[in-house]
Amino acid sequence: MSGLEGLVARFDVDDPGFIADPYPVFRELRDATPIFWNERTNQWVLTRFAEISETLRDRRLGRDYAHLYSHAEFGRPDPDPRWAAFHQHERWSLLALEPPDHTRLRRLVSKVFTPRAVSAMRPTLEQLSGELLDECAERGQFELLGDYAQPFSVAVICSLLGVPREDTALLLDWSHAIVKMYELSTTDAARVVANRAAGEYIDYTRALIDAKRRRPDGLLISELVQVEDNGETLTEDEIVSTTMVLLEAGHEATVNTLGNGTWAFLRHPSEWHRIVTGDVEPKVAVEEMLRWDASSQLFERWVIEPGVEIAGTAVEVGQEVAMLFGSAQRDPRRFDDPDRFDAGRGDSGHIGFGAGIHFCVGAPLARVELEISLAGIVTRFPHLGLVEEPVYQPTFVIRGLTGLHVAAS
Ligand code: HEM
Repeated sequence: MSGLEGLVARFDVDDPGFIADPYPVFRELRDATPIFWNERTNQWVLTRFAEISETLRDRRLGRDYAHLYSHAEFGRPDPDPRWAAFHQHERWSLLALEPPDHTRLRRLVSKVFTPRAVSAMRPTLEQLSGELLDECAERGQFELLGDYAQPFSVAVICSLLGVPREDTALLLDWSHAIVKMYELSTTDAARVVANRAAGEYIDYTRALIDAKRRRPDGLLISELVQVEDNGETLTEDEIVSTTMVLLEAGHEATVNTLGNGTWAFLRHPSEWHRIVTGDVEPKVAVEEMLRWDASSQLFERWVIEPGVEIAGTAVEVGQEVAMLFGSAQRDPRRFDDPDRFDAGRGDSGHIGFGAGIHFCVGAPLARVELEISLAGIVTRFPHLGLVEEPVYQPTFVIRGLTGLHVAAS
């Protein structure tokens, strides 16, 4: 086995040691090569910031190929009919589309997430966050993700879309089941659960759309139902997928960023002190939370046009490219002293929200949610302490803790 092969073997998403701390393996891979072929997943894998950032912007690669090629042309099997509901739920998701459909849908959705629109939501977000943190303060000890981050970010996205608050537990269960489909290694048992969840979720969303049609409320789903975009109307399937991608993308990553970031602070008390004393503002620290321990570790693209070369390697039409975000965010070619968690770094040029046409449409909202959360935690719990050593979920693509038990002092 060559040196590189041995290293690639250690990039093992089923190895709990790798999941617990993938960064040493990333460092060695990144030093060895900007790109390697992974036999296990049949993908090119990119390790460095520059190539990943360029690839995200390169329109010759797409999140999907179905607008240009059949599955057979790409040497891929037809979608497995056992997971039909899952495929249907993401059929019209922004994350499964390329232009022109992507452009049309994104234009409608992005109006809701402009920095201006998000600023107007600040008082609502502050109130929601404050209420939940006050409840945590009364308890003294609490689990940051379950008691605060999840209910907070689900309430935010539900209030934006116009989804009833009492349905949030259902939505969370469905969403947690569905995202398992995006892991590099998933069992059929998990796929069955994910598919069932997607089916129930679709039925729920259809009923909701129907209710909005009968009683419009001016919130996002209602607006999508009513929209006339250059004379076009959205189909029900498009509205279903759009609603669902916002619900799924709109909380999972935000929750995990707050969990991973707060855990980073607990391991770096001097950085926490900088926030407590006001030396570093929460808004600035949020950028480092997004960079240092990324909540989404890998994103993929298909090569859809000929002539693509990455770091001198030709990648062919029909091949898949996986980008290691967690590795790019620790690349010393881009970030000084990248393994250091520096709350005051304030470098918003990271790729935590991606780049190019799929750049996170919810980024302005996510930034404000994280800033308000961190500010609220620091104010109420300046002496925040750990009650129990946390563990990471056993998944690689989505990186987050199973829980974070903390105490007010
Ligand atoms: C800290 C929290 C978040 C992180 C780290 C994050 C990260 C990302 C990344 C990396 C992408 C690009 C994926 C790619 O290029 O393949 C993305 C896309 C997306 N995100 Fe986020 N996101 C967050 C929060 C949110 C929120 C709050 C929402 C909505 C309310 C949201 C909605 C979306 C949507 C709809 C897309 C697809 C955009 C498109 O394809 O045009 N995200 N996100």
